[in-house]
Amino acid sequence: MTIPPVRGMNDILPDDIGWWMKAEAAMREIARRYHYREIRVPIVEHTELFARGVGEATDIVGKEMYTFDDRKGRSLTLRPEGTASIARAYLTHGWQTQDPFQKLFYLGPMFRYEKPQKGRMRQFHQFGIEVFGSLDPTVDAEVIGFAWSLMRLLGLEDLWLRLNSIGCSEDRERYRGILHEHFTPSIGRMCADCKRRLEENPLRILDCKEAICQPFIDEAPGSADHLCSECADHFAAVREWLDRLGLAYEIDPRLVRGLDYYTRTVFELMSKDLGAQDTLLGGGRYDGLVEMLDGPPTPGVGFAGGFERLVLILQERESQEAGVGERLDLFVVTLGDEGRRYGITLAERLRSFGISVDIDHRGRALRKQMSLADRTHARYVLVVGEDEAKTGTGKLKTMDTGEESDVNLHADTLAEQLRPPCDCSRGRHS
Ligand code: HAM
Repeated sequence: MTIPPVRGMNDILPDDIGWWMKAEAAMREIARRYHYREIRVPIVEHTELFARGVGEATDIVGKEMYTFDDRKGRSLTLRPEGTASIARAYLTHGWQTQDPFQKLFYLGPMFRYEKPQKGRMRQFHQFGIEVFGSLDPTVDAEVIGFAWSLMRLLGLEDLWLRLNSIGCSEDRERYRGILHEHFTPSIGRMCADCKRRLEENPLRILDCKEAICQPFIDEAPGSADHLCSECADHFAAVREWLDRLGLAYEIDPRLVRGLDYYTRTVFELMSKDLGAQDTLLGGGRYDGLVEMLDGPPTPGVGFAGGFERLVLILQERESQEAGVGERLDLFVVTLGDEGRRYGITLAERLRSFGISVDIDHRGRALRKQMSLADRTHARYVLVVGEDEAKTGTGKLKTMDTGEESDVNLHADTLAEQLRPPCDCSRGRHS
């Protein structure tokens, strides 16, 4: 019996990696355009960070975390999301005093013990951004603009952005009371989780996906109608900026998001292509988070999205082809001992000029090597035998057209000919 993978934790295979690279490259490119700097934080943090930051009453902390004691009995947790860790890093490195305005982005695995299904994994991967240090509604608009730009660069359509404001902590407290009053008469007809949520945090009822709860949720009062004047002004200014920048949104008065750190602006970008797991990314403001972690009052806003869901849409939209990944520049087919010696040496030299080269390592016959070259989807194939080794010239076959041309086998001359055209918009060769 071979050892199976852990349920909900997938291998990402070489055949699929092209989609991931495409999504990651787009994320880095948009981060460059908006001037966000990359941060990489540990996968493991003290459990308390998420308990305090994300909130004890959330599904994430209540039932989805991978928590364990280390050898000294300290409770550690595999990060279920990035925002709390990055807020922790903000304080760890003293940015609150030295450089309080920070625009950061991140990519990486997150862990939640959820029921695995299409687009929902136990180890999944997020791309996200976080901005610390400004309350200005222009930052909310920039963060949403970043999300739309990323989708545009990836050519994704059929998306819509739900927007709401849940106000400051006082507004939320008041809104909780309003929801408590709204749900109390009908709670007997709602699911068991909602009964618990009514006492713990009635806001969480609005995230419930159970069909029996939906009619009561649809009738619930919206949070944006119960904001203090400062939060109402902030929300109006965010909408004005989105309008001015031509960024589309739909107001959803019952959007509250499933994490407790949110304040004011919340949003989700949805896709019709994802079925039940239709949230491609979600985010909002968390003006109280840094303070909850014992830092000074520091506003923040950001979003995170799921790579698995993004890749699902990319794969559905474009037919799977090797061209999405990095294409091999050259496959060297060798004949005889001398050809093999020459070919392997040439391959090594070409690589030092930045050309990607592969070669058969199992002493296969010519026909087998040719079909291997085909399968690698190389742009060029070169056959090197005794003659080529002697004369230092050979025939280079362009695989897409079948054309053959005479080439000089000096590595520097050949490398120039093999160099792929630069796709400058992505900052790399394609
Ligand atoms: P979240 O809504 O919990 O927010 O997750 C953000 C995105 O991660 C979701 O919209 C979804 O695309 C993806 N995601 C979540 N769970 C899974 C899963 N089990 N499998 C696959 N994909 C998943 C946050 O995590 C916040 N930290 C976002 C944020 C950043 N807010 C402000 N800054």
